[in-house]
Amino acid sequence: MPQTTQAFAVGSRGQDEVNRAVYFSPAVPWYYRRMSMMPAETACLSKYESDWLGRDVLDIGAGTGRTTRFLAPRARRYAAIDYSPVMVRYLKKRMPEIDVRQMDFRDLGAFADGAFDFVLATANVIDALPHPDRMRALAESRRVLRAGGVLAFSAHNLNYKLAFSGPRMRWCWNPVRLASKTVQYAIGSWNHRRIGPLRARTPEYALLNDPGHFYASLHYYAARATVHEQLERSGMRLVDVFDATGRVLAEADDDSENPWLFYVARARPQ
Ligand SMILES: C[S@@+](CC[C@H](N)C(=O)[O-])C[C@H]1O[C@@H](n2cnc3c(N)ncnc32)[C@H](O)[C@@H]1O
Repeated sequence: MPQTTQAFAVGSRGQDEVNRAVYFSPAVPWYYRRMSMMPAETACLSKYESDWLGRDVLDIGAGTGRTTRFLAPRARRYAAIDYSPVMVRYLKKRMPEIDVRQMDFRDLGAFADGAFDFVLATANVIDALPHPDRMRALAESRRVLRAGGVLAFSAHNLNYKLAFSGPRMRWCWNPVRLASKTVQYAIGSWNHRRIGPLRARTPEYALLNDPGHFYASLHYYAARATVHEQLERSGMRLVDVFDATGRVLAEADDDSENPWLFYVARARPQ
């Protein structure tokens, strides 16, 4: 286990431990078999192509390398990090030519100030972090970006209409699918109850079970305005918000249908 991960658990032990148990599980790469890019990612990478194509890119929480396959051949420099030794081993084995390191979002100390033009943290990596660590991760992102560089990341949406819902059983007539749904519902319900004491609501954010991994992880949910304000505090300016379909959301648009949103911010000069 990397030293850094343990050091950051102070004060928010529960959330960090719960999420590490998920991401450090030997079975975790199986969960990330999907290899295609998501519409929000495609929309962002297309709109901000001049910020990453042929430039220096850092991919945080790269997992099994879904985004690596797209970005690495097109970047000038591509570095991937993940705090899970399981993921890092997997990625090193599948793509030995890639610069992949077991490192934590909260401490990018191995990289110099202003080392990158584009930092990507997709699939809600940032939401696994407790609040003080989230702010530290944002500050670290700003530090490793050049002025004007881009941080692109997705994060759970507190305004999502089902954010506070637990697992739900859905009936279907196919007996095999029904059996599978029943098992998933049972595991999800058990995890939801097990993690229940750690769920929390503050004026700024909520800690809620993420439906992924059968409700076994505890993720940070924040509203758009909060993320905007957190980016400002971290020396970055929010420039775009995409929904899951890749549509740019205007400030007044309703976002209650979106479990997560994809944010793009630019580093302000320091
Ligand atoms: C939801 S998965 C996404 C994987 C990949 N980005 C993708 O989209 O397929 C989140 C990944 O972030 C990693 N992760 C979570 N917290 C992290 C942290 N504090 N530092 C680095 N990696 C982290 C997990 O190990 C996992 O591989």
